[in-house]
Amino acid sequence: MGPRSSRPSRWNAPRQLPAIGLDDADDLAHTFIGHDRRREIERGQAGRRGHALRAAELIERKRNGGELTDTEVAELVLGYTRGDVPDYQMAAWCMAVYFKGLTGRETYALTDAMVRSGDTLDLGARLGRRTVDKHSTGGVGDKTSLAVGPIVAACGVPFGKMSGRGLGHTGGTLDKLESIPGLRVELTIAEFVSQVREVGLAIVGQTSDLVPADKKLYALRDVTATVDIVPLIASSIMSKKLAAGPDAVVLDVKVGDGAFMKTLDDARILAEQMVDLGKRAGRQVVCLLTDMDQPLGCAVGNALEVREAAETVAGEGPSDFTELVLAACARLLALSDLGIDLDEGARRAKTAMEDGSATTAYERWIRAQGGDPDLSVLPRAPVVREIVAPRAGVVTRLGAHPIGIASLELGGGRRTKEDAIDHAVGIVCRAKRGHVIEAGQVLADVHARDDESANPARSSREARA
Ligand code: URA
Repeated sequence: MGPRSSRPSRWNAPRQLPAIGLDDADDLAHTFIGHDRRREIERGQAGRRGHALRAAELIERKRNGGELTDTEVAELVLGYTRGDVPDYQMAAWCMAVYFKGLTGRETYALTDAMVRSGDTLDLGARLGRRTVDKHSTGGVGDKTSLAVGPIVAACGVPFGKMSGRGLGHTGGTLDKLESIPGLRVELTIAEFVSQVREVGLAIVGQTSDLVPADKKLYALRDVTATVDIVPLIASSIMSKKLAAGPDAVVLDVKVGDGAFMKTLDDARILAEQMVDLGKRAGRQVVCLLTDMDQPLGCAVGNALEVREAAETVAGEGPSDFTELVLAACARLLALSDLGIDLDEGARRAKTAMEDGSATTAYERWIRAQGGDPDLSVLPRAPVVREIVAPRAGVVTRLGAHPIGIASLELGGGRRTKEDAIDHAVGIVCRAKRGHVIEAGQVLADVHARDDESANPARSSREARA
């Protein structure tokens, strides 16, 4: 079942993937709750009287389709973060949201409260520059940040990003980075800011003090069947972006069987809600809607994806991935303080790939975080098994979800947060949707830790599942 939103979902739209965005961030339609009220809530004095009773009343109002005020939403979220509102009441409220939705105003109040649940970072103020950020809603083979960061930095725009780890069939940027020997992703805020200032680029793990409400709420949603709710996804993503303080954000909303959003209609609704949240917070947000019905690029698996990202930075990547990287870079450069438009952004990004400056930026960045940028030091799986086409034909489908699951089964991902991962394993898809193939042609390489897990029957079974 797709995510719950206020409109019915259909896959009936043409498969062009437009950018939805805003050119101006005026019209600050809605302001944050005043400081006095905010301190009161944060000290935990407000609403503590009869908290359980009060939460029950708010759940009931939402269940009956009513609207909560900004203060009530904040009370619920900040009370939950402090431990005053128990899991069972918060879960009941999320389920009520599943059935009744949130208004734009409530979604913003939720996002605002989540931002205020922890520390915030104003990277732009610390650097004295307008800052830009990107975020993907998650997919299979999605190594976009690893390529976009060095290209944007090579074009003179500082890029400081806080990323996450993978869970389930989707990968995480931090896991990919950790396949580089020596590379550290746990930087202090001071180290992070100084690296962005001096090197132009840092990608690190999110500190636990940033948006603790989302950390707690996401874990609860994960086990109460309340992840796939558009306003909750929008506020979860945007709270983390707003807390990290960029002036402008490019969001890559994935659409397809390997993504949260299975249909273009649902992806559009999520994109619109996130653009709206950014606008209300005075930030520029642009969304790309991109295909996740097949893996992005060819490589799926941590070290394999790092290699492909570095090759793409040098202008030698797969065409679909290169196209997305250039589209994201062009938008980031156009939103930056360089004062250029989209076409000029695309031109500069392409030049940085072709003249080697993006590769230089990549190498500086990896060294700055303690890693070795030489691709030959990346871990390699001991067994590489080819999967060949049994007959000639055309590839009509290469499901992102089953390929992601197959990579997970090889050891490249984790089912629970505690699982260790094998950075070397994964799958390289040598034929993609629309490719014409001969009998016996190699469709994919399975990189495995041993013969048993490389069993093509097993991998292809996973891939079909
Ligand atoms: N990614 C997030 O950060 N939050 C969600 O709720 C879904 C995807």
